[in-house]
Amino acid sequence: MLGNFTYCNPTKLYFGKDALNGLNEELPKYGKNVLLVYGGGSIKKNGIYDKVIAILKANGKNVFEDGGVMPNPTNVKLNEGIERARAAKADLILAVGGGSVCDYAKAVSVSVNCKDDAWDKYFIRFEDVTCDIIPVGCVLTMVGTGSEMNGGSVITNHEQKLKIGHVFGDNVFPKFSVLNPEFTFTLPKYQMIAGIYDIMSHILEQYFSGTDDNTSDYISEGLLRSLIHSANVAVENPTDYEARSNIMWTATWALNTLVAKGKTTDWMVHMLGQAVGAYTDATHGMTLSAVSIPYYKYILPYGTTKFARFAVNVWGINPAGKTEKQTAYEGLDAMEKWMKKIGLVMNITELGATKEMLDGMVKSTLVYGGGYKVFDEKDIRAVLKASF
Ligand code: NZQ
Ligand code: ZN
Repeated sequence: MLGNFTYCNPTKLYFGKDALNGLNEELPKYGKNVLLVYGGGSIKKNGIYDKVIAILKANGKNVFEDGGVMPNPTNVKLNEGIERARAAKADLILAVGGGSVCDYAKAVSVSVNCKDDAWDKYFIRFEDVTCDIIPVGCVLTMVGTGSEMNGGSVITNHEQKLKIGHVFGDNVFPKFSVLNPEFTFTLPKYQMIAGIYDIMSHILEQYFSGTDDNTSDYISEGLLRSLIHSANVAVENPTDYEARSNIMWTATWALNTLVAKGKTTDWMVHMLGQAVGAYTDATHGMTLSAVSIPYYKYILPYGTTKFARFAVNVWGINPAGKTEKQTAYEGLDAMEKWMKKIGLVMNITELGATKEMLDGMVKSTLVYGGGYKVFDEKDIRAVLKASF
């Protein structure tokens, strides 16, 4: 395990078919004013809204609403939410939705008591929180981001053509999250598989770094095998509870800081995907799937040993009689075949990206430099070009 680290995850999880009852345990811990944050209306159609409202009322809460949080929430909507939370004198922000709603709730929570412009402070200047934070709780309805148990918050600025994530500390993690796999049954297939690939990408971003023998990598391989198996089942039968519950649990562990421990971690697929997202507003998981194979083919020569291990331990490739490089490429081929089989988007053209956007996307791509190759502008351009 590389370096020194601390591990603390303060989010309490309620998991399973009865998980929503956890709200009865949590709500009494907070004041009367609850800001209920949700998306474009799916929770009203599938009945989750009514269930949550009934529990809030039974717990004597004053409910204030902030609906209409869009996928890839914007800085403009964020400013509206900050005003709503101030007007409500919110004691708790309850996010009911997917990663967009949870991310947005966290961004509101760190901005309500802060005078600075939230976008500039957190997403341009990457400053720490210097004001009182309103606690956040989540009821998750879409699986993939891990936002239910992490400090991530990704906001899009359409005017500046930037989509940027701030990973806050554990003081910003949701205080609790409700994970009922049945709440995800109504997701359209496109969203379900986008979420499945988001999970895979989170694991790979952490796995494809370092050359040391690291427990985190063994955990990641197990999570990947479970994810691939359950995804195959869920694609055939979206209401298979066993598969959907495994996918939900894997998503949480893929990005709740555990498998990053002792790792430098890469995040280049996410940086490329976010640049594509800034220009197209496409579904997050699909922006990742569309750039992944070109990216991994590009960096494979710099991390061949790890790609060969991935091929054997995750995709079951038999390395006998093959060079490490051959094994490594067979693993990527198996991954690409699987991605196509489950229906992922494999190029950015399908997401609305055009050649005219290329220069801008290259400029919007941030580089953290923890992976097998530290990218410069030329590398970014090459991978994005190969992704059309
Ligand atoms: O808005 P509604 O009507 O609720 O519809 C949503 C939305 O259109 C729909 N949906 C959600 N639950 C549903 C449902 N439809 C039917 N039944 C349900 N049960 O699904 C659509 C997508 O929802 P969204 O929340 O946008 O998806 P996701 O969870 O993938 O979140 C994406 C956002 O999270 C960020 C992404 O960049 C993007 O902005 N990420 C956050 C991360 C984090 N916090 O650590 C890390 C990720 O890498 C990611 O960047
Ligand atoms: Zn992601």
